[in-house]
Amino acid sequence: MDYLKLMEERHSVRKYLSKPIEKDVAEKLELYISELNEKYEMSIRLVQGEDVFDNLILGYGMIKGCNNYIYVSGKDDGNVDERAGYVGEHIVLFAQDLGLNTCWVGGFFKKKRVSYSHPEGHKFVLVIAIGYGENQGVKAKTKSFDEVSKSNEVPEWYRKGIDAVLLSPSAVNQKKWKFEYLGDNKVKVTTAKGPFAITDIGIAKCHFEIGAGRDIIWE
Ligand SMILES: Cc1cc2nc3c(=O)[nH]c(=O)nc-3n(C[C@H](O)[C@H](O)[C@H](O)COP(=O)(O)O)c2cc1C
Repeated sequence: MDYLKLMEERHSVRKYLSKPIEKDVAEKLELYISELNEKYEMSIRLVQGEDVFDNLILGYGMIKGCNNYIYVSGKDDGNVDERAGYVGEHIVLFAQDLGLNTCWVGGFFKKKRVSYSHPEGHKFVLVIAIGYGENQGVKAKTKSFDEVSKSNEVPEWYRKGIDAVLLSPSAVNQKKWKFEYLGDNKVKVTTAKGPFAITDIGIAKCHFEIGAGRDIIWE
């Protein structure tokens, strides 16, 4: 799987075709989700044939024609908001590789229409719209290396990590993370306050590790 290409090609898609997810595609996705659920103590679920999106509001946040979503929840251990981003983004990139389109959705959906419910001791974080897009979305405005990195004298792998981070989705495209190189394989990332900023950190860590091509010691 060429992850970097997938990151370049992935954009949030907000208009969907009514075509259901092909059976073998859904099975591959479900298998991948169950592996990640086990590894990261999550209870993420693909739900098909249910439109939970609030499409009465026009403009930002509106998801049209989407009949499927990924319900993102996990063990409520104080770190689940970040893990939701980290694990969810792996699923988003895997789905992109399967020819599907996605959009993370923190608001603008009707919780009462959601049929799935997570196990006790777990916490619901948000949903991801998923299906075949009417289009592939458009490239969002991004930031520069210096805007998101405090360190300048850095190894090549760190630069590659940041390049991948700059392709990350983030709530209201806030991209509020700040990265810092601490020597060896150690990297620190913090964020200013904002909606779903902690989930954004998890998403960015997923991209950074893939871009850097190594295991990072997160400080
Ligand atoms: C945690 C999170 C929550 C989001 N919530 C919404 C949402 O409620 N509605 C929406 O239309 N887009 C939502 N987005 C998508 C962002 O607006 C989008 O990722 C950002 O504008 C960058 O665009 P891109 O994903 O095409 O790169 C969310 C993204 C993230 C990461």
